[in-house]
Amino acid sequence: MGNLRYGIDVGMVDRIAREVRELHNNKGLEVCMVIGGGNIFRGVLGAAYGMHRAAADNIGMLATIMNSIAFQTSLEKLGVKTRVMSAISMPTICEAYIRRKAIRHLEKRRVVICAAGSGNPYFTTDTAAILRALEMECELLLKATKVAGVYDSDPQKNPKAVFFDKLSYKDVLDKNLKVMDQTAITLAQENNIPIYVFSLEEEGNLEKVLSKEGRCSIIS
Ligand code: GTP
Repeated sequence: MGNLRYGIDVGMVDRIAREVRELHNNKGLEVCMVIGGGNIFRGVLGAAYGMHRAAADNIGMLATIMNSIAFQTSLEKLGVKTRVMSAISMPTICEAYIRRKAIRHLEKRRVVICAAGSGNPYFTTDTAAILRALEMECELLLKATKVAGVYDSDPQKNPKAVFFDKLSYKDVLDKNLKVMDQTAITLAQENNIPIYVFSLEEEGNLEKVLSKEGRCSIIS
């Protein structure tokens, strides 16, 4: 969304794409992405009011496909090969998500962008991200946010919010910390995948976090 009220800020998408290219090219990592849809969903929030949750979630999943295509375009402008794979079949626009095919794309040095969440209403993008990370046998999940990591309360509202460098899945669940929904955290906990929560607001932070120079909260 960048500085827009809703929609796609191409300048912002390009900037994030440059950061992902660094990871992919310079660090040689295999990168799989799951992108949300809140920036677009915000524009239809009025219409979603009073809708059945399943219908609103379907709109949200379609929004993630738009974002995935926009991100693919930005990455390919930079010369990074990508494949968008959607959990909702949309054969004229992108490939369907097939786990073994997604892994093959990674092996061939393509960035895989997983669109349409898990393809089911009632499940968040965060839950879909954990699910894909497990299916793709990712070593870790990086959760990009607008704040430096996990706090005991919203740091944008409470200047005295306490920051956590490290915490357990149980801490997140017991303290009801709002970093991810409980379904996502429970799935991560059951399968022991570490989650790094970091801010995308500061340019270059993604690389710093992976080189252990940047600030982030580690949930493990
Ligand atoms: P390899 O089998 O590893 O060569 O994979 P590939 O993705 O290069 O080969 P493929 O011939 O499957 O894909 C060529 C292009 O078509 C790529 O840009 C794919 O993203 C795209 N593509 C593949 N399957 C579909 C599909 O079902 N729908 C759409 N819209 N595009 C697809």
